[in-house]
Amino acid sequence: ENVYVGMDLGGTTIKVGLCSESGVLLHTYEGPTGVAEGPETVISNMADYVRRVVEESPYSWEQLAGVGAGVAGFTNVRDGIIVMAPNIGFKDVPIRAILEERLGKPVKIDNDANVAALGEAWSGAGAGIENCVCYTLGTGVGGGIIINGRIYQGFSGMAGEIGHIDVVPDLEAIQCGCGKVGCLETVSSATGIIRMAKEAVERGERTFIADASEITAKTVFDAAKAGDEVALRIVKRAAFYLGKSMAAVAAVLNPQSFIIGGGVSKAGDILFDPIRETFAQLAPEPLQKGVQIVPATLGNDAGMIGAAGLLIR
Ligand code: BGC
Ligand code: NA
Ligand code: ZN
Repeated sequence: ENVYVGMDLGGTTIKVGLCSESGVLLHTYEGPTGVAEGPETVISNMADYVRRVVEESPYSWEQLAGVGAGVAGFTNVRDGIIVMAPNIGFKDVPIRAILEERLGKPVKIDNDANVAALGEAWSGAGAGIENCVCYTLGTGVGGGIIINGRIYQGFSGMAGEIGHIDVVPDLEAIQCGCGKVGCLETVSSATGIIRMAKEAVERGERTFIADASEITAKTVFDAAKAGDEVALRIVKRAAFYLGKSMAAVAAVLNPQSFIIGGGVSKAGDILFDPIRETFAQLAPEPLQKGVQIVPATLGNDAGMIGAAGLLIR
């Protein structure tokens, strides 16, 4: 019986899951990414955690048929290179070749959101749906496009960088980690939501959110749910730009579902309702018919399952 490792490489943690051929997680391991110690440490950690998850499981190293990894950043899927990952401190790292050499196993890499999309399409909210677009809302905003059941890669393997669509009008646009301004990610990620809340507190606006240093995305959503006007305005702004981007994406790809995952998506209706309203306002009617905007269902496992899926599917 063959098993596969699916790895989710994020800015703070690396999650590895041992997966069966049918996409069932058999065993998982999680450890720090180690960004502060530099790229060499991150790479050793990746290799180390793969060994560990197999060792701790009832399966043998010989049964491991390959390793898939989803990376939070621009990835060149064809050449196996992490092109630009600001949150991991990687630039032009040929990660596939390095890991294949260290592990002696076939390795495939892809973008974290692409891989999460594949996981959702395989056994989550996208199961049985041929065409869907997944958003991951966390530190950044990620996107993954599934066309005819497969990840759409684009020319250099970087399709689906939805977080970097320019949606914010010039006057309100701020700098993004990608080097541009006005990106969706600057307003609709956890980072963007926290920044807007801090700015409101610092401007002295009347809000329940008191201590600017302790704001998280959850603080903002909780305040909004409790009726705080300032928090509500921030949530609506984040939702508006998500809906606006979806109207643009719908015009290009006409997906059946928009599946939204990542920590921020746990906010529920307070986020989803205004996203749906904006989409209804901005997308041409024929492109709305039968289209759903729904939460992801695999939660934190989507990345690991989808990463293993790179080898299986
Ligand atoms: C990166 C994407 C990534 C997303 C979520 C963005 O800032 O550009 O590659 O998928 O964050 O991690
Ligand atoms: Na992507
Ligand atoms: Zn950007």
